[in-house]
Amino acid sequence: MIGLVSLLPTTTILRMLNISKIREGFPILQRTVNNKPLLYLDNASTSQKPLVVINSLVKYYKNYNANVHRGIHTLSQEATDMFEEVRTKLQQHFNAKHAHEIIFTRGTTESINLVASSFSQLLNKGDEIIISQLEHHSNIVPWQLVCEKTAAKLKVIPINDKGELLLEEYEKLLSSKTKIVAINHVSNTLGTINPVKNIIEKAHQYGAAVLVDGAQATPHIEVDFQDLDCDFYCTSAHKMYGPTGVGILYGKEKWLTKLPPYHGGGEMIKEVTFEKTTYADLPYKFEAGTPNIAGVIAYGVAIDYINKISLKNITFYENELLEYATKQLLNIPKLKIIGNATQKAAVISFIIDGIHSSDIGSIIDKLGIAVRTGQHCTQPIMQYFNISGTIRASFAIYNTKEEIDVLVIALQKAILMLS
Ligand code: ALA
Repeated sequence: MIGLVSLLPTTTILRMLNISKIREGFPILQRTVNNKPLLYLDNASTSQKPLVVINSLVKYYKNYNANVHRGIHTLSQEATDMFEEVRTKLQQHFNAKHAHEIIFTRGTTESINLVASSFSQLLNKGDEIIISQLEHHSNIVPWQLVCEKTAAKLKVIPINDKGELLLEEYEKLLSSKTKIVAINHVSNTLGTINPVKNIIEKAHQYGAAVLVDGAQATPHIEVDFQDLDCDFYCTSAHKMYGPTGVGILYGKEKWLTKLPPYHGGGEMIKEVTFEKTTYADLPYKFEAGTPNIAGVIAYGVAIDYINKISLKNITFYENELLEYATKQLLNIPKLKIIGNATQKAAVISFIIDGIHSSDIGSIIDKLGIAVRTGQHCTQPIMQYFNISGTIRASFAIYNTKEEIDVLVIALQKAILMLS
């Protein structure tokens, strides 16, 4: 831990956080599932939403609903101001140099596809793209599509048994043929926090650009775009207590200027004639069509929500949950944790010898517990560990050690029933 928080005793942090109060702010946590209190441990899929975020969606549609950037009328101007304020908020939150380096998208998947599609115009046969064995399918398939289109080659950084990238192998893959490295910041399946700053620095020595898939990082740790020196960074609102269907692509101005547009349509043009169309300035060149206005505004509220608690506190508290859960789960006979990286975010994948993960998932669902089971859109990770899937528990700020105890008892019950 860094900064002031690291100097404070744990009890001080926990008192400052007041988790019961935080839980009261999430209406869904009051409901029951299968007649049991909901125990939500599927935060890597999507986090729950605090009432302030939910209310902001209603407030927008009740009071400000109008299209942005298009109208001279008051409503449109109000909506535009609120929308653009969020761009500036995100610029500050992630320390981008310019607000116009923040592009609104539907989420991380669309952000990666945008870069892959536009970047493909700069590639030639024999150029190389590096990804890793830890990637989510959304940071594999778009690059495979690019390779099919351009005859560029895909290279893959291998991992070790702890679920960490083999950095010496990465360095061997880099060459003057490398044009882009696309890597996740945190693995959605194993929780591994990758040393992206180091990866970026190495790629830049060969003139390659770096895209970071940060979907699983931004809810848990502080991210500073300028400090990382990444060329592109992608993330989604919905894992950060915000709504679904909205996310961002950050791109350095020099890259966004160089890349051709992704989608064509309204808003992204300067002038349209049948002979020649010219494109709008950044960021609008990449924002064709009516955006998710309510979603963007609610994303801003989610960012305020996170900052009120502070990411330092979130990281600290979630690390406590991770350590506690790891210790408790390892007391269960036949349970094996998959992914033991030294640097981990609050995600634990595990298997139970001789029992299918989805059978466990179904039984504990009957007890009100939501976890994700299966391959988590990361089949290459499953292939590496030679397993069909895992059970994944992923934490957020509203989870508690008591909930982890309930999970452990439920798993023991499920194992007894299935053995
Ligand atoms: N990418 C999300 C997950 O890991 C959906 O569950």
